[in-house]
Amino acid sequence: MTRNLITLFDLSEEELNRVMTISSELKKQLQEGERPALLQGYGMALLFEKPSLRTRVSFEMAISQLGGSSLFLGDDVGWGSRESIKDFSRVLSQYVDVIVSRSTAHAKVVELANHASCSVINGLTDYCHPCQALADLLTLQEHCGELAGQRLAYVGDANNVARSLAVMCGKLGVDFVLAAPQQYQFDEEFLALIAKQLPDFQLQQTSDPREAVEKASAVYTDVWASMGQEKEAADRAAAFEPFQVNAALMSIAPSDSGFLHCLPARRGQEVTDEVIDGEQSLVIQQAANRMHAQKGLLVWLLNRGKGSQ
Ligand code: CP
Ligand code: NVA
Repeated sequence: MTRNLITLFDLSEEELNRVMTISSELKKQLQEGERPALLQGYGMALLFEKPSLRTRVSFEMAISQLGGSSLFLGDDVGWGSRESIKDFSRVLSQYVDVIVSRSTAHAKVVELANHASCSVINGLTDYCHPCQALADLLTLQEHCGELAGQRLAYVGDANNVARSLAVMCGKLGVDFVLAAPQQYQFDEEFLALIAKQLPDFQLQQTSDPREAVEKASAVYTDVWASMGQEKEAADRAAAFEPFQVNAALMSIAPSDSGFLHCLPARRGQEVTDEVIDGEQSLVIQQAANRMHAQKGLLVWLLNRGKGSQ
């Protein structure tokens, strides 16, 4: 059966753990100079409507290192404009084994997946960013040694990155607290979904960033205005100013707490240079882990490699 990753609810806790294990194994193998060709001859299409450095390059290199190849398809291929998403998806999936899609609208990726006969991976939508959360929890695991019992403090907008992180934490037994001005916290619809899907998970929200970071294993932030929210940037900057992750805030967190950011960052806004460039910062390791996590995901989704299930 073809499997997709549109949101993290598409994979069980056990499956997510399996992806993480494969990712760690492949990372270790690469460090030892091995690039097993588990996806030799496989093809991946990248269908992107928004800019990207990390997601695009890490996916392209992930499949390349696994022996497969990729095709980058920009906005000009016209999915949903030159022809229907249905026709586009049914045709494209005749040629490739997996489609990674980054879209302005979550519903477009869902529709694409509904009509595809190959696997579809969400490479970021306005709603969520599941591949980012895979790499983030791999980074947290490397930093802390194990995930169970850790606490992640996300200081910033309850956006696509925050939603995926919360779900990933809920599935893997990591406490999660979001600190944001009240109007930028998770909405009722998302909280109801979490309560239904992850009844044992205590998702916390606060408007006090100091309280959030106090016992955090890692402090995470992202931009205050995401792609597509440029017109709201000034209002958001004013509301989020007390939520900047700076040295004063990090001094309240435990001294071994890591600092995470999905990047790209707006230095001087959500994070200061001293934090993102400081000793606690894990952001480059985290960005590198995008590729390792996605190698694990591709191998698992396409059911390749010994024991990938
Ligand atoms: N973090 C992330 O998804 O980066 P890109 O937008 O550069 O892909
Ligand atoms: N929240 C950000 C993440 C970028 C990787 C955005 O959607 O622009």
